Amino acid sequence: MDRLAIAATILALLSLSHGDEERVRRSEECDIFNGSWVYDESYPLYQTPNCPFIEKQFDCLRNGRPDHHYLKYRWQPTSCNLPPFDGEDLLRRIVGKSIMFVGDSLSLNQWQSLTCMLHTAVPQAQYKSMTVQGLSTFTFPEYDAKVIFSRNAFLVDLVSTPIGRVMKLDSIEGAKLWKGIDYLIFNTWHWWLHTGRKQPWDFIQDGNHTQPDMDRLVAYEKGLKTWAKWIDANVDPSKSRVFFQGVSPDHMNSSDWGEPSAKNCEGQEKPMHGGSYPGGRHPAEQVVEKVIRSMSKPVYLLNITTLSQLRKDGHPSVFGHGGHRDMDCSHWCLAGVPDTWNQLLYAALIHN
Ligand SMILES: *[C@@H]1O[C@H](CO)[C@@H](O)[C@H](O)[C@H]1NC(C)=O
Ligand SMILES: *[C@@H]1O[C@H](CO)[C@@H](O)[C@H](O)[C@H]1NC(C)=O
Ligand SMILES: *[C@@H]1O[C@H](CO)[C@@H](O)[C@H](O)[C@H]1NC(C)=O
Ligand SMILES: *[C@@H]1O[C@H](CO)[C@@H](O)[C@H](O)[C@H]1NC(C)=O
Repeated sequence: MDRLAIAATILALLSLSHGDEERVRRSEECDIFNGSWVYDESYPLYQTPNCPFIEKQFDCLRNGRPDHHYLKYRWQPTSCNLPPFDGEDLLRRIVGKSIMFVGDSLSLNQWQSLTCMLHTAVPQAQYKSMTVQGLSTFTFPEYDAKVIFSRNAFLVDLVSTPIGRVMKLDSIEGAKLWKGIDYLIFNTWHWWLHTGRKQPWDFIQDGNHTQPDMDRLVAYEKGLKTWAKWIDANVDPSKSRVFFQGVSPDHMNSSDWGEPSAKNCEGQEKPMHGGSYPGGRHPAEQVVEKVIRSMSKPVYLLNITTLSQLRKDGHPSVFGHGGHRDMDCSHWCLAGVPDTWNQLLYAALIHN
């Protein structure tokens, strides 16, 4: 089995009665990313009023979202159960350590979800949150544990030069922040698609060649290869574990899920049935898989694309950004889908 296949499957963790760790028993191999969404009255995993620091753009309930079923879905793998998320246990495991999410606002989404999940598990424990120049550090002093978000949309460097803003596909100076972090969780994709006023570069530099633009998937693959090379050269797997968050899908085009009259995610109140998505596999996730497969150091892919594709109901739509008119079918409401990404991350972390 190749590295990626090993990384993508973990031993099934069958939780017996109360889910104490000693009672979690390994069984046959199980792909925890293969499954479906089931309605579960016990969800969500936290109430957002109990997460006082949640960003308004993710707090769909507070922004007036009227339907609440989207809060009630649990990810059920086909051939095993996920271990129940135990925030106190996770904090004990990361005493003296740090977890860092590196990427765009989808990383912010997952980071925010994890901080809410942990805070809800230990509501009496002190916490500190501080953001300096794109680096948000959430600390639990009693556990000497840090959960960090580093905003970095491309992973490779975007620099201002006399000719304009240049994206350098083979330069990765930003990586100096990643040294010595115990758990790194990377993500990049959405910003590679921007055009017009939202496009943050004037030129793309590829080796010695500088041009105004290029095929975006090709640029993405080159950027990811630069990231992969850095990881292979700099990460010591006995000290740091590396995850890739996977490509988070948007739901801007309802033809993707076979409902052209819906237009986009607005008004969607239910996930797709079953485990496959009519729109098929995302082109970017295939690039991610290819690059990870070529690496020499182990990288665990949180293979969340398909399971998130099924959640056309999970986005803020008009209930993000403080409730104004923007249509947000890219980010996810919290509580919501990123909580499941963190449950899967937790499953991967405790299996070792
Ligand atoms: C990720 O999940 C998809 C859909 O379940 C599957 O087709 C693909 O092989 C998985 N990727 C990896 C690396 O396991
Ligand atoms: C998911 O698991 C089912 C049952 O084991 C299998 O038939 C199916 O091919 C799997 N799907 C993917 C995408 O791997
Ligand atoms: C870039 O140019 C330098 C200097 O001319 C040369 O040494 C190098 O091989 C070139 N690199 C690539 C990738 O073409
Ligand atoms: C939505 O997807 C369909 C099918 O892939 C495509 O024909 C259509 O142009 C897309 N619509 C938009 C607004 O991109």
